[in-house]
Amino acid sequence: MAINSGGGKSAMGLLRGQVAVVTGGGAGIGGGISRRLAEHGATIVVNDIDAQLLATLVADVEAGGGTVIPSPGDIRDPAVVEALADTALGVADGRVDVLVNNVGDYRPNGRFLKTGPEQWEALYALNLEHVLRCTRAIAPAMVEHRSGSIINVSTVEAFRGIPANAVYSAFNAAVNAFTRSLAVELGRDGVRVNAIAPDLMDTPQTPAEAMLRGRDPDLIATWVPLGRFGRPEDCADVVLFLASDLSRFVTGHVIPVDGGTTAASGWYGRADGRGWTNLPDRP
Ligand SMILES: NC(=O)c1ccc[n+]([C@@H]2O[C@H](COP(=O)([O-])OP(=O)(O)OC[C@H]3O[C@@H](n4cnc5c(N)ncnc54)[C@H](O)[C@@H]3O)[C@@H](O)[C@H]2O)c1
Repeated sequence: MAINSGGGKSAMGLLRGQVAVVTGGGAGIGGGISRRLAEHGATIVVNDIDAQLLATLVADVEAGGGTVIPSPGDIRDPAVVEALADTALGVADGRVDVLVNNVGDYRPNGRFLKTGPEQWEALYALNLEHVLRCTRAIAPAMVEHRSGSIINVSTVEAFRGIPANAVYSAFNAAVNAFTRSLAVELGRDGVRVNAIAPDLMDTPQTPAEAMLRGRDPDLIATWVPLGRFGRPEDCADVVLFLASDLSRFVTGHVIPVDGGTTAASGWYGRADGRGWTNLPDRP
């Protein structure tokens, strides 16, 4: 992906001189966020489980004149969280301005009555536990410097019911509640806490072809009010807003980045009784 000319040295940089941490920042929504924050002048410290994706990200950001420090590893591992925090805190004498807790996955999914503790624990580790760990590791530095912005990546599925994903949606609802409560707790310390709730992003986790499942792409317009699937940049721009001083009086909010699907949303039982769909169904 191309980086704006000027990259980290851009005079337009909203985050010039800042240090920003992104988990799962190699590709998908996290990749878009990493690139955007670097374009706006932040030194980005990027975690990813995939060394190849991380290498590509580093090459892209550096080619655009940005500064990136990779911090590889599985964010579910507490030692990886600790290494990420140590790396970030070492960049600018213990100051970290932005933390984006992006990693999350709806898999393993399936009907709740067919799941068990092993699956729930896997979803907890992927969607909530590292959010708590990373925040616990990095927020104290923000409090100490009386400044910081934490942005969690949740999902619209935390607002509406999604069959076969009850546990994923429950943990993301927890991310939203954590966002709001922590915002209240840390407000007087100068730290803001917000979240974005994406839907229907064309990413490696949910590629456009998989979302369409053979349907006519013309149907997207009947499904997403803004008439297209989302792109990582759509999320990245909202995260940039939340990370920067433009949102200085905004805290405790979860902002859908969904092309209007929350406003229009509904899961429908199929007429033939065989499961549900949120898609324009075949006749
Ligand atoms: N794609 C969507 O439509 C959508 C919708 C709602 C919410 N979300 C949320 O957005 C976030 C990002 O989703 P995405 O679609 O970009 O995902 P993705 O799977 O396409 O990309 C995830 C990135 O994180 C990395 N990663 C995965 N597991 C990791 C781990 N354990 N440790 C470190 N890095 C890891 C991957 O290598 C990849 O670079 C997730 O929290 C997801 O739940 C996505």
